[in-house]
Amino acid sequence: IKKIGVFTSGGDSPGMNAAIRSVVRTCAYLNIECVGIYRGYQGMIEGDFKTLDARSVNNIINKGGTILKSARCEDFRTKQGRKKAYDQLTKEGIDAFVVIGGNGSFTGALLFTEEYNFPVIGIPGTIDNDILGSSFTIGFDTAINTVVDAIDKIRDTASSHNRLFFVEVMGRDVGHIALNAGVGAGAEEILIPEQNLGLERLLDSLKRSKASGKSSSIVIVAEGDKIGKNVFELKEYVEEHLPIYDVRVSVLGHMQRGGNPTCFDRVLASRMGVKAVESILEGKSNLMVGIRDTKLVLTPLAEAIKAHTEIDEELIRVSDIMTT
Ligand code: F6P
Repeated sequence: IKKIGVFTSGGDSPGMNAAIRSVVRTCAYLNIECVGIYRGYQGMIEGDFKTLDARSVNNIINKGGTILKSARCEDFRTKQGRKKAYDQLTKEGIDAFVVIGGNGSFTGALLFTEEYNFPVIGIPGTIDNDILGSSFTIGFDTAINTVVDAIDKIRDTASSHNRLFFVEVMGRDVGHIALNAGVGAGAEEILIPEQNLGLERLLDSLKRSKASGKSSSIVIVAEGDKIGKNVFELKEYVEEHLPIYDVRVSVLGHMQRGGNPTCFDRVLASRMGVKAVESILEGKSNLMVGIRDTKLVLTPLAEAIKAHTEIDEELIRVSDIMTT
């Protein structure tokens, strides 16, 4: 292996730059050329490459977003698209790549490596924390801290006006952000896709909370929640069935994906980047670097994309007890 490509793909997450930096510097340390591939698989298909040396990743460890840009690429889903990508990589002399991304990005990588027997290692980068084979994905810790910070601020105004707030947080298929940030910010209820509490229970809980003397409340709703109503419909429903509350909605949106990564995400990204490059040099492929019990582990990409990580039942219990 003489030249390793690195790229970010899918939704960006804070800490991706730290992971790029780590891959680039590990390559430099081991005297291997490193090439940045811009805009994920789209840039691979178009040959949007740039050689990166140790100095080209100065001062990015603290930056959110991704200097290599990111994209969700339709063309790579087709055989012709992947053939174009392979031709571009071959032309450039890239003989392995590290993909930093989530489920969709790994699915593409797996198809590619099965078709072309091309060495590939994945690094999980997504705020959703939904990748099997790693207790943490890069960006999750930053995102939950961003959400907690936002909810603390919303709580100030909720409490001044005795209001009930529905706060929608990201998490396309999973409730990890909602549950963790919800416990961290002391939310009254947390609605997640893994557990449909139903509207009745929500009303009961809000009634009880009011009766117990709480004057304001925060309910966190994961965007992928299965209660059957979005945050705005929930507001209307509660206003209609429980007119004791003055209700407001706040959708946090993409601010959850931005910002400077926390130290945890920077360290995680640095460790995973080293492991990814070393794994390629050890002849490994089709694997994802993950972390379990503070140790780095490798999981087959095929396993990693099979399902989402399960929700932490113990944390759900803690949340239930805390809302007493
Ligand atoms: O997967 C990360 C994520 O931020 C999800 O939580 C969210 O549903 C999705 O990406 C949003 O994607 P986009 O930025 O393409 O709208």
